[in-house]
Amino acid sequence: MTPVTTELHHLLNWHSVDDAVWQQQIEAARRHKWQEAPSAQPGAGKSIALLFFNPSLRTRTSMEVAASQLGAHATTLVPGQGTWGFEWDTGTVMDGEAAEHIHEAVGVLSRYYDAIGVRVFASGTDYEQDRSDALIQQFADAATVPVVNLESAFFHPCQALSDAATIAERFDGDVAGKKFVLSWAHHPKALPMAVPNSAVLTAARLGMDVTIARPDSHALDNTVLEQAADYAASHGATVTETADMDAAYDEADVVYAKSWGGPMVYEDPAREAFLRGQLTDWRVTADRMARTNEAAFMHCLPVRRNVVVDDAVIDGPHAIHLDQAEFRLHAQKAILERIWGG
Ligand code: CP
Repeated sequence: MTPVTTELHHLLNWHSVDDAVWQQQIEAARRHKWQEAPSAQPGAGKSIALLFFNPSLRTRTSMEVAASQLGAHATTLVPGQGTWGFEWDTGTVMDGEAAEHIHEAVGVLSRYYDAIGVRVFASGTDYEQDRSDALIQQFADAATVPVVNLESAFFHPCQALSDAATIAERFDGDVAGKKFVLSWAHHPKALPMAVPNSAVLTAARLGMDVTIARPDSHALDNTVLEQAADYAASHGATVTETADMDAAYDEADVVYAKSWGGPMVYEDPAREAFLRGQLTDWRVTADRMARTNEAAFMHCLPVRRNVVVDDAVIDGPHAIHLDQAEFRLHAQKAILERIWGG
């Protein structure tokens, strides 16, 4: 794991900063939500380039609006659509389609912008590359300005901060000891682990008792679980895993639904797809939610209705997925303010 620091330069994940910074950022996100009008413009004269190697609705729009509300300028770039095609590998003879190496692209953007946001998902084929977050790390190594992770192979820190602020608001700060269930869900595709990794680390660091409800076939990464267990232990909480989805919901205070493919995708994708196809009952239903302590239903979005979660739940009174999405805007203002020294 990354050494822990007291400063935020690049934001690649939250476990690289200490608890004090983490808590300050949660408070800053909440402050931004309820602030009537920014008292200062910490982004005045600043600019951020946003590179999306993968699709987005929330992250892209909320980052653009966050920059604007801070008085900053944002430029969104979709590599390959209006930019040159990028080469990633070192030492490559670039006589193919890619006209520009990522190294020069990041170097140039560092000369124009005060920060660079990057979304670059997991390869799904190279586990060591994905679990070390090598691609976004490549950006951070080449950049001379802060790099903000807009969802990488293994972590989604903007989502994590929004989730933490949403949970803190839901329980009015009285979060420790509440039961958080990360509920694996069926999905037609094998999704990456950035969101579930971040959700488990977030809940454990908030001192929530975390239950990961997942089929035996769909594990999370061991190093992430170890980090979550460390957070839980140091915050008086626990992390447990179970394949009994129904029992996991008993007395839950939060149910966070998410699908992921897990390590099996890398080892045996055909078997993962076959097993996932047998797991359509792993869905958040009203009957399961009835076992909870009127749990808040959370999802990072986008979500497939009646595959991941039934209409009765997501349209019900305890669904707070739109609050989560709203907090993206405020969390990212808190992040930009911090990296720009506001
Ligand atoms: N939750 C999230 O990151 O949404 P987008 O993929 O739409 O950005």
